[in-house]
Amino acid sequence: MLEAREIKKVYTVERGIFSGSSFKVYALEGVSIKVEKERITGLVGPSGCGKSTLARILTGVEKPTEGMVLLDEKNILNYSPIERASKVSIVFQDPYSSLNPKLSIEYQIKEVLTLRKKIKKNFRFKIEKPEELLDFVKVSSRVLSSKPYQLSGGELQRVIIARAIALEPDYLLLDEPTSSLDVSIQSQIIYLLQELKNLTGMGMLFISHDINLVDCISDKVVLMKDGRIVEDEDYFKKLLNSTISLT
Ligand SMILES: Nc1ncnc2c1ncn2[C@@H]1O[C@H](COP(=O)(O)OP(=O)(O)O)[C@@H](O)[C@H]1O
Ligand SMILES: [Mg+2]
Repeated sequence: MLEAREIKKVYTVERGIFSGSSFKVYALEGVSIKVEKERITGLVGPSGCGKSTLARILTGVEKPTEGMVLLDEKNILNYSPIERASKVSIVFQDPYSSLNPKLSIEYQIKEVLTLRKKIKKNFRFKIEKPEELLDFVKVSSRVLSSKPYQLSGGELQRVIIARAIALEPDYLLLDEPTSSLDVSIQSQIIYLLQELKNLTGMGMLFISHDINLVDCISDKVVLMKDGRIVEDEDYFKKLLNSTISLT
C-alpha cells in the first residue's frame, strides 16, 4: 500500500528578489489517503486545492513539511531514488511537456528500457524491445521514428503511460492525465487504464477536477478542498448530481 499520513505542506514564496519579504502558502493541511493495489482511487477537487502537491509528495520526490508517506509500510524517503521509481510512477497532464521534443519516441523509450535492464527486480512481463512496451498501451511501433510533436495528444499520452509503467511499478499516479485531451480520446485512455490495472494489478491514483470522470473510473473516490480531505458524503453526492463544475 502507498499511504499518506497527515501530510502538511507549506510553501514560502518570496515576494520579489529585492523586497526581502515573503508569504506562506498552506497547500496541504493534514491530508491522509491510501492507494491500494488492484484498485483505482479517485482524487477530485477544484483547481489549487493541493492535488498535484499531494501527488508529488506521494512519489517521494517532494518532501512534506509534516507527516509522512509510507510505501509498503516503510517511509518513502528511506528508499533509494531508483528503488522508489521502480515502485511508484507518475503521469502528468500535459503529454507534450513530459517528453523531450527533440528526441525520437524510440530514443525516449529505449532510455527507460535501459534503466529496466539495470535494476534488480523480479519482472513479470517480458519487455525488452520498444515495440513490446508499446503493445501494453496499444500504440503501433510506427511511431518509434517520430518526434513527440508528430503524434496526436492521445498517442503521446499512451507513450508516456508506457514509459511510466516500464519498470512495472506497483503504484501509478495519474495527475489529470486526460484533461488536455478531447472527450472521445479521454474515454479511450480511461479504458486503457482500467485494462492495465486488471492486467498488472497496479494500484492507481486518478486525479482530476472532473467529478463525473473520477466517479466513473474509480473504485473509491476521495474529495479534496482547500488542502484538506472532505469527508462529507452528502456534499459529494450533491456535486455529483449537479452540473456545477469544480473548476
Ligand atoms: N512550488 C510551489 N511554490 C509555491 N506555491 C505552490 C507551489 N506548488 C503549489 N503551490 C500552491 O499550492 C496550492 C496547491 O497547488 P496544487 O497542488 O498545484 O493544486 P491543484 O493540483 O489541486 O490545482 C496552490 O495555492 C498553489 O499555488
Ligand atoms: Mg494540479
